[in-house]
Amino acid sequence: MKTFRLQLRFLVPLLLILVATAYLAVPVMDKLTLRWFARDLDMRGNLVANALSESVADALQYSRTRRIESLFERALQDERLVAIAWCSEAQEVGHRTEQFPKDLSCAGANALAGGKDPALQLNGGPVHVSVHPVMSEAGPMGSLVLLHDLSFIERRSQDTRKYLIILIAGLGAAFALVTVVVAQLSWRGWISGTRALLRGEGLVRPLLPGAPELAPLAADLRQRLRDLEDEYRRAQRPDAVWSPERLQSLLHTQLRGDQVIVVSNREPYLHQLEDGKVVVRRPASGLVTAVEPVMRACSGTWIAHGSGTADRQAVDKHDRVPLPPGQHDYLLRRLWLTGEQEQGYYYGFANEGLWPLCHVAHVRPVFREADWQHYRDVNQLFADAVVAEARSEDPIVLVQDYHFALLPAMVRKRLPRATILTFWHIPWPNPESFGICPWRTEILEGMLGSTILGFHTRYHCKNFIETVDRYMEARIEHEHSTITFGGEQTLVESYPISIEWPAEEETKRWPTPAQSRAEVYARLGIPPDHHLAVGVDRFDYTKGILERLNAVERMLEKHPEWRERFTFVQVAAPSRGALDEYRSFQERIHRATERINARFGREGAPVIRLLAQHHEHDEVNKLYRAADVCLVTSLHDGMNLVCKEFVAARDDERGVLVLSRFAGAAREMPEALVVNPYHVEETADALHQALTMPAAEQRERMASLRSTVREFNVYRWAGRMLSDAARLRLRQRVSERVQRHAAVD
Ligand code: G6P
Repeated sequence: MKTFRLQLRFLVPLLLILVATAYLAVPVMDKLTLRWFARDLDMRGNLVANALSESVADALQYSRTRRIESLFERALQDERLVAIAWCSEAQEVGHRTEQFPKDLSCAGANALAGGKDPALQLNGGPVHVSVHPVMSEAGPMGSLVLLHDLSFIERRSQDTRKYLIILIAGLGAAFALVTVVVAQLSWRGWISGTRALLRGEGLVRPLLPGAPELAPLAADLRQRLRDLEDEYRRAQRPDAVWSPERLQSLLHTQLRGDQVIVVSNREPYLHQLEDGKVVVRRPASGLVTAVEPVMRACSGTWIAHGSGTADRQAVDKHDRVPLPPGQHDYLLRRLWLTGEQEQGYYYGFANEGLWPLCHVAHVRPVFREADWQHYRDVNQLFADAVVAEARSEDPIVLVQDYHFALLPAMVRKRLPRATILTFWHIPWPNPESFGICPWRTEILEGMLGSTILGFHTRYHCKNFIETVDRYMEARIEHEHSTITFGGEQTLVESYPISIEWPAEEETKRWPTPAQSRAEVYARLGIPPDHHLAVGVDRFDYTKGILERLNAVERMLEKHPEWRERFTFVQVAAPSRGALDEYRSFQERIHRATERINARFGREGAPVIRLLAQHHEHDEVNKLYRAADVCLVTSLHDGMNLVCKEFVAARDDERGVLVLSRFAGAAREMPEALVVNPYHVEETADALHQALTMPAAEQRERMASLRSTVREFNVYRWAGRMLSDAARLRLRQRVSERVQRHAAVD
């Protein structure tokens, strides 16, 4: 259809030219034929006159009128000759045939003869007038006036005109056909050439054989690819550590400073009313820990649920607040939810349904129709906010986590040119486990609205692709890790999340490990000769806190030498306490703590200190620096950032990390003591090994862990995702440009 329209652009002017040619050519043709025939008639007149001249002269000499009439009658048998007259030397009409006009004098005939155009009409038709002298032996004897019929010329002209028009129409059709065929062939050649370009063919060699018109486009592409390659090579250099500056430069060069919009349920800062005063708090959330530094580097707008008790007091009339407090690097746009929405969408569908579904931590997912309804509504509410905050038709939207599985497709519908990067911060289960969700197809469709879908590990990507393969009609390209659904392609890639590596100015302000230890021990009343292990988590059943307590208990059973020489501090930040599952889990932990303390603690010196309250980052950091061991024993965790924070806090290269093999981080941190938290003996032994590990081994392991986390920091996480986004955006722009070129040409 499109090619047909394009070809019309050639055909219509061509047809117009042909019609104009016909319009101009016909009268010219008429004139020319008239002249040719007039000349022809003159010659015929001469022949007739020559043939008559002698006989007419004889007849005149002897005044034989009958003879003259008969000569004239015979001559008139020529079908073109319509009338004859004889003019005397005195220019008077002597003899004439019946048809000869009575009002035509000899002088008039002489005047008309020799004119180019027929000027005389006879019986409604044009006639040609010619005058020929009559000669006798005695000298000139007047002249013969011959009138020839010209109407046959009119008839011939009509025929000529008809043939001419048929000829022009035939030529037009032939031209049109040739144009269409040539245009089709060139169009196909051009399209396959540009497709080849998009596939990267012809970009390495400067020449595209057979398609020189694509050379400028190829040159542009080559330049952009070189830029991307430079950036990629820089990223691959061993000394190239990702930093906020590098992320910013990526944003400004490859992404041309385009707007970044983050969407998450949890906000980076909460305004809370405490003792009549508004205080600002950082929530306990791995997501916030990772995304906040990225937003500080990228600026832009962060859309999140305003859940702090004083959040409404802190926003402007557009529900926005500049953050971080006092620094104003980015804007937080708060959205408000009703109690029912929060209950259904957040507590219900997200945390009673999707959370246990994806973690497979032996807590049954609960799916309620009403919760699903709220989940959909709230996703739509946030999607509308993304559209409202977008300053262009193609912003970069970073969608965070399982609270917004439907949002990518909703945004894609309204902003088809947006680049939507969805990051799933929790694990993705195998297809069988995911299959129990009653709305599995809707969820998968929603997520496939993303341009890029990120998970922490390849294993989660594989699970997701297999889930799509099992439940949807989509095209999967395993080689490129892409899924095409509804004409849109989603890249499914692993991007292990991390933390911001602390800057030197910051670490200089930290109290020394000895000071931290002294402070922590004094505050918690830990006897100075005790070794210290810490656990820092949200109070969540996926974190393996019970298994950890059991391992501590088992270690004390197996190694009595640690009794009264060991304390375990568990920070458990309050989380989702409105849910029964969480409340009963928290009660179990309290009971287990009491039991173990009753068994192994002393009056005033319990073995286990359970700190079930919110802790600010500085306090947690002190705890990390004070500890001999950090225990991370999640039953299933997307990544887990506590282990990375612990490593970042130990600039003294001391301390031992015990890490669950079911946390995504275990893949990057093999220098930790990696355990199966379900195996209480193994975890107890690892704890004992950690407490007895020589300083040199600690240093060796810690130094290696630190270099990994420094390099694989959160800017790398965001940088890799945004580089991929930049590549896909470039591809999209080039393909749009190609389409535009094609449409114009
Ligand atoms: C996990 C989730 C985050 C969430 C965090 C805290 O890390 O992946 O999305 O923010 O837990 O949970 P909460 O429900 O308090 O936001």
